Amino acid sequence: MIKVAPSILSADFSCLAKEIKSVELAGADMLHIDVMDGHFVPNITIGPVVVKYIRKCTKLPLDVHLMIERPQDFSAAFAEAGSDMITYHIETIGVKELRREAAKLKQKKIKIGVSLNPVTPLSKIKGVLDAVDLVLVMSVNPGFSGQKFIPGVVPKIEELSRIFDGEISVDGGVNDQTAGMLIRAGADILAAGSYIFGAKDRLIAIERIRNAGK
Ligand code: DX5
Ligand code: ZN
Repeated sequence: MIKVAPSILSADFSCLAKEIKSVELAGADMLHIDVMDGHFVPNITIGPVVVKYIRKCTKLPLDVHLMIERPQDFSAAFAEAGSDMITYHIETIGVKELRREAAKLKQKKIKIGVSLNPVTPLSKIKGVLDAVDLVLVMSVNPGFSGQKFIPGVVPKIEELSRIFDGEISVDGGVNDQTAGMLIRAGADILAAGSYIFGAKDRLIAIERIRNAGK
């Protein structure tokens, strides 16, 4: 069964706890948290202190997506804050360091993911697939919610699902129109921001994503 991860980047941050409750009640499987540093991507979002307080207001697993340079300098703080899975961009970290991070997170029973930008080929992550629990395929250029889905990433998901045993997550422009092809291509987790938080009825929005492949 497909898992749906609402991305809180599209939530109203003035009442974040309420926003989180609303997607929890609407059937979210986990919470996708976008961390941006203004260097790797042209936007700045949230740090470990916010994750720490999010941890207190929900039981949902926290899926932390690091879009930052030198992620290895901050992973301990995000782990400490209560992350359940931490995803690193392959454009920001070498294979050796990523393996070291995987070992550290494993000790803390935190899942590790590797992500790749739409233009980054699968060949860049092939050497770490054995060390990660999850691959997060970006279907927009990271930085902002509400961007248009890039259909060119679908073959990448298909190939990945043939060679990778772990979970495949897709992030960017996911909605009721795009979810079906992603599920058929092999996605296990779909992260969605504007489609879910912008919906009149978030429960229906989540159900539409979940059932899109049927
Ligand atoms: C983009 C973020 C996404 C984003 C998704 O850089 O990583 O998680 O919030 O937003 P939508 O679903 O609106 O494309
Ligand atoms: Zn994300």
